Amino acid sequence: MSKIQERVFSGIQPTGNLHLGNYLGAIKRFVPLQNDYDCIYCVVDLHAITASMQNPAELADNIREVTAAFLAAGIDPQKHIVFNQSQVAEHAELAWIFNCVARMGWLSRMTQFKDKAGKDREKASVGLFAYPSLMAADILTYRATHVPVGEDQKQHLELTRDIAQKFNNDYSERISDLGLGEAMMVGDEKVQGYFPLTEPLIGGPAARVMSLRDGAKKMSKSDPSDLSRIVMTDNSDAIAKKIRKAKTDPNPLPETLEGLVDRPDADNLVGIYAALSDTDKASVLSEYAGAQFGTFKPALVELAVEKIGPIAAEMRRLQADPAEIDAVLANGADRAREIASRVLVDVKEIIGFVGARR
Ligand code: TYM
Repeated sequence: MSKIQERVFSGIQPTGNLHLGNYLGAIKRFVPLQNDYDCIYCVVDLHAITASMQNPAELADNIREVTAAFLAAGIDPQKHIVFNQSQVAEHAELAWIFNCVARMGWLSRMTQFKDKAGKDREKASVGLFAYPSLMAADILTYRATHVPVGEDQKQHLELTRDIAQKFNNDYSERISDLGLGEAMMVGDEKVQGYFPLTEPLIGGPAARVMSLRDGAKKMSKSDPSDLSRIVMTDNSDAIAKKIRKAKTDPNPLPETLEGLVDRPDADNLVGIYAALSDTDKASVLSEYAGAQFGTFKPALVELAVEKIGPIAAEMRRLQADPAEIDAVLANGADRAREIASRVLVDVKEIIGFVGARR
């Protein structure tokens, strides 16, 4: 019984307004993982059309923008794989199979579906409902073992594990007859399965970056207020203005983490500072305990401009040459397809489809 190979996979939707939450909660954390794992980072364009139709020219620009952000942040597309999802048909193919594994009840409980569909669920696309099956397919078509994401994706990753586990159970005899099982640990128990039970990598001080206008709401691409988020392409003036106008409370910063409880806006700015400076909230508080926002905000502006400015400049440079970005995506897609197609052959054989290994 061989042991499953460790691999990292994560994805970002190209829906525009790539923001500080996407960067601190995900992209920045993708970078160091390259030292320890084989990594696959994907621009999930099939997911981008689930909520509403996208303007075709804007969608293409947004795909290139997310790719540029990956590269500008320090992801190496030679050593690892960077590509857009729609170039590898296996994602959609495995998603169909997972639609037949996942239960209606499981998908109906997804909070993201409930939030995005709103009150009128009859009008939501079928794709929005089935979104988590496609996400499970993204991960499992590479049998990825680790997935770095922000906290809002936790429920989707639990569902990915449920799908993997049900597939492994439903086909357990067939998987072992074909010799396709791999060893893995489930809790303290060693079991065999075809798909790994993926481990979410969620953490750090910016696992959930909140709106700059309302510390109770997540920073998001779709918030109608531009002041609610810093986008990766903001210039220094825009960053300074948004931080200056960020909602706060009248108290100075506390000495300890407990002092941030019930102060969501202060907690959010301290978390952003900590993530940008590669430290934790407690260290930020030890430096700024007792400081008023009149002191802390300018320090945060300086830090944000210093860290985001060079990435934005590099993104602009890369985006000026779309052909170069498209070449990176094409190369990544070819290498991704090689892994994905082998997994799909196994899966089809496990299920009993004729011609799988032809
Ligand atoms: P998406 O495109 O909404 O967000 C991309 C990544 O950014 C994280 N994120 C945040 N982190 C901290 N604070 C925030 N305010 C914040 N907003 C977003 C998200 O958690 C995510 O890591 N379903 C996914 C995309 C996806 C995917 C996958 C991810 C598709 N297939 C497979 C991992 C593996 C999504 O909509 O992310």
